[in-house]
Amino acid sequence: MQLKFDWLIVLENLQRGIMVTDTTLEGPAGPRIIYVNRAWLKMTGHGRDELACKTPRILQGKHTDRAVLSSLKQKLLNRELFHGQTWNYRKSGEPFLMNWYCYAIYGERSRPIYDVAEQEDVTELEGLRMKQRLLVNPGDAEALAFFFILDEWKASRKTTR
Ligand SMILES: Cc1cc2nc3c(=O)[nH]c(=O)nc-3n(C[C@H](O)[C@H](O)[C@H](O)COP(=O)(O)O)c2cc1C
Repeated sequence: MQLKFDWLIVLENLQRGIMVTDTTLEGPAGPRIIYVNRAWLKMTGHGRDELACKTPRILQGKHTDRAVLSSLKQKLLNRELFHGQTWNYRKSGEPFLMNWYCYAIYGERSRPIYDVAEQEDVTELEGLRMKQRLLVNPGDAEALAFFFILDEWKASRKTTR
C-alpha cells in the first residue's frame, strides 16, 4: 500500500461536492467554511475566493426547510450522522435540491475538529420522480410544489431580462 499520496488532488477530483467547516454550530459566524472541492464550486456557482469567513447559509433561501437544518444541528450535537435534503440556491439564485450527508471528523481524545459534508444536486433525479407521481396523482401537493419552485425561478428570470 502506498502510504504517501496527494490527498488534495483526490478531494479536488471527487464527483460529489465536499465541504469542510469548523465545528462552531452556534452564532451567525459559524460554521465557517474551510474547504470546498471543485465539484462543490461547479454545483453552486460560487468562486473559491468568495468563501472566506462564509458559512453554508449562503446556500439557503426562501424554500429552504428549517426543520431539515434543525435536524442537522441536532444530529451533529448528538455526534450522529445527518442525511437530508432541502432546497438550496446557486450563486445565480437558481434553486436546486441539495441532498447531503454531514458528520464530524474527530481528532485526539475524540474531540470534533471538523464538520464535513458530502453533497449532491438531485434536482434532475427528483424531477423524474415527481413527474411519475403526478402521472399517478395529478393533485400530488408535494410534486406540484416541487415544479412551482422551479417555474417561479424561470419566470423571475424572464421578468428581470
Ligand atoms: C459541514 C456543514 C455543511 C452544511 N451544508 C449545508 C448545505 O449544504 N445546505 C444548507 O442549507 N445548510 C448546510 N449546513 C447547515 C448550516 O450551516 C447551519 O448549520 C444550519 O443553517 C443550522 O444553523 P442555524 O439554525 O443557526 O441557521 C451545513 C452545516 C455544516 C456544519
